[in-house]
Amino acid sequence: MRALNAFIDRINSKASVFFFLLALSFLLYGCKKDVAVPEKPYTLDIPEGFPAPNIPDDNQLTEARVRLGKKLFYDPILSSDYTISCVSCHPQEFAFSDITALSEGVNGKLGLRNTPTLTNVAYGTSFFHDGGAPTLSLQAVAPITDSLEMNLPLDQAIERVKNDPEYNQLFREAYDEEGVFPITRALEAFQFTLISGNSPFDKFYFQGGEDALTDSEKRGWILFKSNGLKCRECHSGFNFSSGGFESNGLYEAYGNDPGRSRITSNPSDEGKFKVPTLRNIELTGPYMHDGSMATLEQVIEHYASGGSSHPNKSELITGFEMSEQEKQDLLNFLKSLTDWEFVNNPDFRE
Ligand code: HEC
Ligand code: HEC
Repeated sequence: MRALNAFIDRINSKASVFFFLLALSFLLYGCKKDVAVPEKPYTLDIPEGFPAPNIPDDNQLTEARVRLGKKLFYDPILSSDYTISCVSCHPQEFAFSDITALSEGVNGKLGLRNTPTLTNVAYGTSFFHDGGAPTLSLQAVAPITDSLEMNLPLDQAIERVKNDPEYNQLFREAYDEEGVFPITRALEAFQFTLISGNSPFDKFYFQGGEDALTDSEKRGWILFKSNGLKCRECHSGFNFSSGGFESNGLYEAYGNDPGRSRITSNPSDEGKFKVPTLRNIELTGPYMHDGSMATLEQVIEHYASGGSSHPNKSELITGFEMSEQEKQDLLNFLKSLTDWEFVNNPDFRE
């Protein structure tokens, strides 16, 4: 991430960022011919109540693409010293997020932000806590090349898979283009399949299972969307994320990570971060962009207190009074968003 962010800091203008990304996409995609979609399309299992995600025309899902992307996701071949893979920081058992505040990349180096879940990234409209990457495919460039993560220049990553007979074959099957190794597109294809929508909440809300939630969880859901708490104003829709950027009052001063304003250079974006999904939230702690809150109880206390004052803090964060029982109900509701079928899905394993 640092590589991309540092670059963006340096050029610091939206137009240049655009041209940089354009250049990058040529590098990654090779010359874009009309790619014939190979046989055996991969059919996404779209949960009840969910829309179909937008899959780009040039990366329509096929079994070969998803299989290749999964292999790359689990393979340390994409890190300089062959020790770190995507899954090192995004393990399935924690809904593809990490349990430490900051994750370790090559040589034990620590990253600068908390590793987010990959739950439902297929529905993302921007990636990273500051929304600095517009597509999943471009996003993948950052972890591969970042010195704090996998630390491997892209040309070397391509060289490695090119010289590996198995990958050579898999790329040809998946993308049907001789001599082209769209690593990041394959990773994108696999990540599109990480769809989670079968939690107890989903069974209750979308699938008509009146008994799928306990009374306490149902009370928590009512609190969550109440005018008093306003959680649902930002954690909205089927994925519990508006996709927008907000300041939830974490700090009075954001120090060297001002969030969204790194991308827009707009002071009114300082302290704003992408509204994260709350799906599988029980498994994805520690919380916030810097992993500064260890537990969901702390998160609830934070919102109840109204947080720190900052000129950009959202007007929705005003604090509220809650009984111990209500806090417990809210917590139980948040935990009803855990989709164990997703976390244990053998299709996502190595
Ligand atoms: C060393 C740990 C580490 C490794 C390895 C790693 N990631 Fe991440 N990942 C992170 C962190 C930290 C962030 C958040 C960075 C930020 O917001 O600046 C992140 C963010 C993401 C996001 C954005 C999610 C969102 O909702 O915004 C995606 C997608 C992602 N990683 C995919 C991958 C893929 C694919 C790989 C392998 C090529 C990978 N990651 C390797 C730590 C890691
Ligand atoms: C003004 C919009 C807004 C409102 C209202 C809001 N949130 Fe958030 N929430 C955010 C943002 C933005 C973040 C991410 C902040 C960061 O990364 O530093 C977040 C983070 C979280 C997280 C941590 C997610 C993670 O993966 O780290 C939880 C849990 C959470 N909110 C729950 C709630 C609950 C419960 C309520 C209601 C009491 C609520 N939110 C109200 C915007 C909001």
